[in-house]
Amino acid sequence: MKHLVIVVILIIGLTFLTNFVLQSIGLLPVEASTQAVIIDRLFDTHFLIISFLFSLILVFLVYSIVVFRQKKGDDGDSVHVTGSSRLEIVWTIIPLGTVIFFSYLGALSLAETLKVDAKALDVKVTAGQWYWSYEYPDFEITTDTLYLPVDRQVRLSMTSVDVIHSFWVPEFRVKQDVLPGENLVKELRFTPTIIGDYTVMCAELCGGAHAYMNSPVKVLSSSDFQDWIDEETGNIPQDPISRGEKLVTKNGCVGCHSLDGAPGVGPTWLNLYGSERKLNDGTTVIVDQEYLLNSIVNTNGQIVDGFAANIMPQTYGDQLSEDEINNIIAFIESLK
Ligand code: CUA
Repeated sequence: MKHLVIVVILIIGLTFLTNFVLQSIGLLPVEASTQAVIIDRLFDTHFLIISFLFSLILVFLVYSIVVFRQKKGDDGDSVHVTGSSRLEIVWTIIPLGTVIFFSYLGALSLAETLKVDAKALDVKVTAGQWYWSYEYPDFEITTDTLYLPVDRQVRLSMTSVDVIHSFWVPEFRVKQDVLPGENLVKELRFTPTIIGDYTVMCAELCGGAHAYMNSPVKVLSSSDFQDWIDEETGNIPQDPISRGEKLVTKNGCVGCHSLDGAPGVGPTWLNLYGSERKLNDGTTVIVDQEYLLNSIVNTNGQIVDGFAANIMPQTYGDQLSEDEINNIIAFIESLK
């Protein structure tokens, strides 16, 4: 009985200590959505159970090793125990109850995170190797950065143009696989609660540049969000260079091609036009309109030495109109 009392006290003490350590080392990023609070409640309960199980095993193990080790001159066998219905019932009922309790808690939390707000903002998400693209059907805006108003639920309708990707912003906690196929549109809802900059990362291995399939998410105050909408929908620039500039942001080009000479996944566009490029087949080429056009629509045709093929999407020829491509070329031409 004395041993049991000591062991129970040690287990309780170690459980609280372990739980305190787990809670204070910052395992989870900031809670930036309504859904994150619900999910973190589950995490907190799990941390407590994990701490208890860790302590239960460790205390029994170490206590037995230290207190019940073989004494000097004690060469006899220990007591043989064969079966104990009481013990077996206890260690079946307790884990079973725990698992049922957690499944109940999980189902409850899942239902809470899926709650529908009729006034949610609609955004269509397209994932591809390797980019994220967002379309706001209410405003006819397409962009490569997800802009969201704070404290308003967003409903993402997501689809992929090639393989399975997964939409995940750690601060919002919720995550959803994005599947190819028009009939497999997946929905994800969340309500951002903190204004700031976040990153969506692809959480499903989807090929060579999976690790770089990140793109910015900006949570804005509702007035800033409205300003952004006005700016995007208001005055469309008339000159080709400004139109090209808008197009390269919308289509995600600048994720790989820097405008300031910085190195990237693809060649920088600064001082590109008119320069001489060495290609990976040993030939050289002068960057002119024809070369740029070919590089946009036939992305694996002329790969610059030192860069990899099959990185740039091969869909721009279908995705962009001839006019849009000419605007982009005009913009690249202007970067000196
Ligand atoms: Cu897309 Cu990983």
